[in-house]
Parts: sequence; C-alpha cells; structure tokens
Amino acid sequence: MRKRVYLSSPHMGGEELKYINEAFDTNWIAPLGPNVSGFENEMCEYTGSKYATATVSGTSAIHLALKCLEVGEGDVVFCSSLTFSATANPIIYQGAEPVFIDSNYETWNMCHIALQKAFDDALENNTMPKAVVIVNLYGQSADYDKLKAICDKYNVPIIEDAAESLGATYKGKQTGTIGEIGIYSFNGNKIITTSGGGMMVSNIEEYTKKALFLATQSREAERHYEHKELGFNYRMSNVVAGIGRGQLKVLDDRISKKKEIYEAYKEGFKDIEDIEMMNICDFGEPNYWLSACTIKEGSKVKPLDIMLALEKENIESRPVWKPMHMQPFFKDYKFFSSLEEGSVSEDLFNRGICLPSDTKIDKKDMNHILQILKKIFII
Ligand SMILES: Cc1ncc(COP(=O)(O)O)c(C=O)c1O
Repeated sequence: MRKRVYLSSPHMGGEELKYINEAFDTNWIAPLGPNVSGFENEMCEYTGSKYATATVSGTSAIHLALKCLEVGEGDVVFCSSLTFSATANPIIYQGAEPVFIDSNYETWNMCHIALQKAFDDALENNTMPKAVVIVNLYGQSADYDKLKAICDKYNVPIIEDAAESLGATYKGKQTGTIGEIGIYSFNGNKIITTSGGGMMVSNIEEYTKKALFLATQSREAERHYEHKELGFNYRMSNVVAGIGRGQLKVLDDRISKKKEIYEAYKEGFKDIEDIEMMNICDFGEPNYWLSACTIKEGSKVKPLDIMLALEKENIESRPVWKPMHMQPFFKDYKFFSSLEEGSVSEDLFNRGICLPSDTKIDKKDMNHILQILKKIFII
C-alpha cells in the first residue's frame, strides 16, 4: 500500500517541543502560563490585532465573540451558508436564529447582493441582525469593502470567521482583523495547528476583557469564588499554546508550500477544460489552505469519480462544504440566495472538490496525483 497522502495534516516545524519542554521544566502544565500569553502576543504581532484571547477551539472563540456582542435568545445573526457547521452552531448555543447568506463565484464567500437582500427583508420585518458572521473559505478572504459597507450602513458588527485563513490578507490587512471581532482555528487540519485550539482577536479592549472573563468561568475578582453570570471553560492550556508558538514560526513557509500546491494544480489542469480551480481574487493574498476546484456542468467526470480514484491510491480528498441552508439541522432557517433560482453555494457543493493540499506532499506525490486526475479526464 502506498503511503497515505492527506488532505491537510499536522506539520510540525521543529521548535514546538522547545516550548512544550519549557512548560514541563517550569511545571506550567496547568491552564494559562507564559506560553499562552506568549502565543497571544505573537499572534497580535503577526496579525496586527491589538488583543488576542487563546481558546480551546475556533468554535469556542466564535461563541465568545457572539457573547461579546450580546447575541442572545431570539436575536437574529446573519451567517455565511457555505461553511463548516462550527460557524453556525454557536448561534444556536445562544438561542439566536441564524439567517444564511449565499456565496458568489468570484470569492466563494458571502455575496454582497444576497447580504443586501437579507437586510432588506430584515428591515421590512423588523428582524435586524445583532451580528453578521462572515467566513473566509479555504484560505481566501471575503470581499470586505462591499460587505462592510452594507453592515456599516445598518450599524451591524462583523464577526470574521478566519478559522481557515490565518495569514491571508485583504488589501494588505490580515484576515481576522477586518471585522469588529475575528477568530482563528488551530484544529489538526488547519494551516498551523496546536492539535486543537483557537483564538479570538479584536482591537476593542472591552470585548477582549469580556471574552477572557467568560472563558475563565465568569469568575468575579474576589478572593472567594463569586459568579454573577454563566461561565465557560474555554481557555487554551499552556502546553498546547507551546505548540502554537512553534507553529507560528513556520506559518509563512506553510503558506508558500500551499501556494506551490495550488499553482501545480493550476498548471497541471491548464489543458483540461472541465476543471476550474477556485478563483483567486486580486484584492489580497490567500493562504491557499485547501486547493479547491469545480468540475464543469455536463462533464462526464463527477467529483465522486475523482474522490474514488484518489482513494484507490490512498490519497485523501473531500467534497466542498455542504451549505448550511441544505443541512437537515438548519434547513428551516431563512436563506438568501444571490441567484433568482438555486444558489451559488449549492452549485459549488454539487460540482466542487477539495484536492489534497498537505504541506508534506513532495514532487513525486504531486505528479502522481496529477497523473491520476488527468487520466480520468482523458479516458
Ligand atoms: C470555517 C470554520 N469555522 C470554524 C471552525 C471551527 O474550528 P475548531 O475546529 O477549532 O472548533 C472550522 C474548523 O474546524 C472552520 O473550518
């Protein structure tokens, strides 16, 4: 059996153990400690955000962001439909109501036309949202000038779900730092990982203080344990943060390698009309987390054929996220499409595929993958 080629697996840089050993040597095993504050400070330096709060996951960071914006029972939150369920689940944790917004083909991210439709409807029905959660899919930024202009018009804050886009930029700014609050994920498959973890970033001190308070069981500043509101155990541990500090040192290398992989696919598919790589917009530089493509309507090859052919050779690939408005759990919530009929996110789901994008892929693996794919289209 050939060695497995993964979609996107953990790739250590070498310095992670140094920070973990420091945590062991100083007995900073328990939550918090110098690696946590070190990781937060280094993330602020990298992203240009003023404040950062390290958490146990990206999902918990989204939950904290919603709490900071006081999203509660019965509130409405607009949310990208084409995403992983973790973007939308915390809206439900808060007893709020998600309204899903379609993508456009240029960015694969939230479409400003669909967003405007949702606001028009909300104005008419007196259901204005408390927040808009915008996802930067597969490592590429959404088009924030267009989206932010609409949100600003109605004074609604943006939570940027940058779980997949750490290191990507929009007009020179790091993704995650464009909305009022941003979140990152360090889950095992992300561009850098802490095995599991997340981070909330913001330039607003009040939100950061609130997040820190909530993430540490909402403990009041008293000698005894005093709690006036519901708390959460959401802080990252000092050992885990050590992995993050080591990983951050290789983030730029990982982005370069991911870009190399994307370009190898682009070059490899240049003569195959039926494959179209995800569009890269010139408003920024993605981190190329996953190389995604679509298969043209009417092609004799279907995304499943590709996934099965790769799987036969022990190579992992994955469908594009199934949009939230199509998920049985979320299907009864409102959805605003950018099209008159059907939706862009549904079409991307039907025709899309995430190709192996592991930074440990070497030239031989890459050629092998391209050969398999080309063969399917030529037969
Ligand atoms: C877009 C998006 N949002 C949120 C998350 C949740 O992050 P985590 O797994 O760290 O909770 C993920 C990934 O897992 C994601 O891809």
